[in-house]
Amino acid sequence: MIGRPLLQLDSLEPFVDALPIPRVAAPSGTRPHPKNPSHKIPYYRIGMRQFESKIHREVRPTRMWGYGGTVPGPTMEARNGEPLLVEWVNELPAAHMLPIDHTIHGAEKDKPKVRAVAHLHGGRVPPESDGYPEAWFPPGKSATYCYPNEQDAAGLWYHDHAMGITRLNIYAGLAGWYFIRDSFEEGLGLPKGKYEIPIVLLDRFIDAQGQLFYPIAPEEDTPWVPEVYGDATLVNGKLFPYFEVEPCKYRMRVLNGSNARFYHLTLSNGQEFYQIGTDLGLLPAPVPVKAVFLAPAERADVVVDFAGHAGERVQVMQGVQPVMQFRVAKTPARGTGVLPATLRAVPRIPESDAVTTRLLTLGEKDNMAGNPEAMLLNNAHWSDPVTENPKLGSTEIWSFANFTDDSHPVHLHLVRFQILDRRPFISEEYYRQGKIVYNGEAVPPSPEEMGWKDTVKADVGVVTRIIARFEGYTGRYVWHCHILEHEDNEMMRPYEVIP
Ligand code: C2O
Ligand code: CU
Ligand code: CU
Repeated sequence: MIGRPLLQLDSLEPFVDALPIPRVAAPSGTRPHPKNPSHKIPYYRIGMRQFESKIHREVRPTRMWGYGGTVPGPTMEARNGEPLLVEWVNELPAAHMLPIDHTIHGAEKDKPKVRAVAHLHGGRVPPESDGYPEAWFPPGKSATYCYPNEQDAAGLWYHDHAMGITRLNIYAGLAGWYFIRDSFEEGLGLPKGKYEIPIVLLDRFIDAQGQLFYPIAPEEDTPWVPEVYGDATLVNGKLFPYFEVEPCKYRMRVLNGSNARFYHLTLSNGQEFYQIGTDLGLLPAPVPVKAVFLAPAERADVVVDFAGHAGERVQVMQGVQPVMQFRVAKTPARGTGVLPATLRAVPRIPESDAVTTRLLTLGEKDNMAGNPEAMLLNNAHWSDPVTENPKLGSTEIWSFANFTDDSHPVHLHLVRFQILDRRPFISEEYYRQGKIVYNGEAVPPSPEEMGWKDTVKADVGVVTRIIARFEGYTGRYVWHCHILEHEDNEMMRPYEVIP
């Protein structure tokens, strides 16, 4: 990787900026429902814009791209069963702020440099509104998507998905929260309003001028690098922010929006807290934890109780690095949120429901120098014909056999799934015999992974099995690794739900 002088993070005074809470998006009126024009539904218009942001009191303004001109973008609040429209408008400049690799599929020189398409990650959305990677549009254009919100309460997120440059567009800042609410969840009495904190983690390199730096490979014509792990963790767009809390329960919705980094987050006082939900909704019951472990695109819903910690300062830690600080007030708390003993049932899908089991390999294609050149799913490229074509309403098991040296967070659009297990196998035997030979027991998911998921860590040397019912819509979707450098460079495949 080619370097550039970076911002000296340890020279910055930590915990001097308050944690920003993204504003909640407001509709700008109503429009007819595309399938039912007599029914008017809320209409939002969200522009993607270049702007400058103060990431820290002592750092000069950083140029970024954000939905609605902020990073993270405005939080969308939706209700189960109430559809809405978003017109996503590309108001970005004509030149890209980060280095494009034109040898990557979909990012050739004949394509506009700046292209964007928004995807609602975790959304059960018809294909024409899903943000297909090739459905990008250039500056000056827009696309209006309809989100049915016919799914349980959960923390979804929206982000860019433009073919071959998703890693750059998200790195520039194009991501935000999208919460779906429902009355079941509201009936639980969990902390809400100012006691519910949305948190987006984005790791970045910041150069000495305070600007985003995206590393490039030494070969000038092929700047793609296999992963980016920035040393600066932006929390809702700030470096080392602090947040003032009362000594009571808080619900925190944590999103790993980073390109490649996995987070293992703890509290500096060693305090236990509760994970109450995963990607697509609540767990059956709160799980006491001392850490949350999030791969890119995964979300954790947690409750932290600061009662008994009045007057303390508690840091959120990623390993030994502080990420942000909570300052617990000495005054009595006014928050009244509770943590019930049971949350929402997650009935296990019986394996016997599955009509098809697919073995899908995760692999890497190296160049002659032994460096990764592309990442492949099932040895296929993006442009190869569709091979995964579940029938609408059917249940399938997908087994991801990881032949690489990294864990890959595998994400499926459209569906929610459950993790069945992870089981070690011998890759040499697969090369020799063409079939999976296991050399260990199947390990069930941890209690905090027992909820509805849309992204799963497919770990090294194991077969990770998931089970999903392909409900909702027929049509073309994608599944991919959510390490954005991988996804851009062939670790993404179309799939088709057929009638
Ligand atoms: Cu987070 Cu294909 O998406
Ligand atoms: Cu998605
Ligand atoms: Cu990957």
